[in-house]
Amino acid sequence: MSFDASEYGRHIPADVYDTAFAHLDPDVAVDRLVVLADGGPVCEFGIGTGRLALPLLRRGIAVAGIEASAEMAARLKEKPDGDRIVVSTGDFAETRVPGEFALVLLAFNTIFALPDQARQVACFRNAAAHLRPGGRFVVEAWVPDPGAFRAGAALRPIRVAQEMVLLEAAHLHPAEQRMTTTKIHLSNDGVRLLPANHRYAWPAELDLMAELAGLHREHRWADWSGAAFTDDSRDHVTVYRRGEGA
Ligand SMILES: C[S@@+](CC[C@H](N)C(=O)[O-])C[C@H]1O[C@@H](n2cnc3c(N)ncnc32)[C@H](O)[C@@H]1O
Repeated sequence: MSFDASEYGRHIPADVYDTAFAHLDPDVAVDRLVVLADGGPVCEFGIGTGRLALPLLRRGIAVAGIEASAEMAARLKEKPDGDRIVVSTGDFAETRVPGEFALVLLAFNTIFALPDQARQVACFRNAAAHLRPGGRFVVEAWVPDPGAFRAGAALRPIRVAQEMVLLEAAHLHPAEQRMTTTKIHLSNDGVRLLPANHRYAWPAELDLMAELAGLHREHRWADWSGAAFTDDSRDHVTVYRRGEGA
């Protein structure tokens, strides 16, 4: 399957990305990451416009990143302190950033941007290759929920506020574990469509990918606050760890 890692950034302009997700408060995630990073440095795969990377940097953790979209990386660079983050252009399933890292971060469901299992396994191996012994790979992703679909389609509100509404229209392709989505951002400035495709995986499959890469699960929480992961959890934050002697 041909794959262009910069597709996400071409379909979703960087300024629209920042507007659509401006309601997300990064503080709880950043608090957790500061502890897990153990002094750093951190490499963020799919660093985007720096939503998490910039506050992490301002908490004293050195951050580098990999990003396929030149537009997303350029927007990060324009922001205060953006010039302090080295961003390598490329696909995080294969691009190697020089150095050894205490933590590799893959946030906000971005593992699912890789279009098949082989590339997702390659991504876990690439994360492991960036880690120093004892280093951590942190993955934030949703839990697949086929029951939310009727006849293969679903429409759900993500955020409803006075000044904006964010909806997601989705089609499920269970045979290939793929989901095609378009987020619909509505405000008085107009309508923006934000398409994104996902090759989804249940947490257990991600755990197996980690094992193939020599990483072992240390934690799984329902969110960045560390809430227990239960039958009802719709998202997870999972911490994988490279062995001390590896
Ligand atoms: C959902 S955004 C997350 C951005 C940022 N991590 C955050 O939490 O706000 C996904 C980002 O990953 C980038 N991306 C997607 N697939 C990629 C790949 N295979 N290699 C590198 N970057 C990729 C996109 O261009 C986009 O900037």
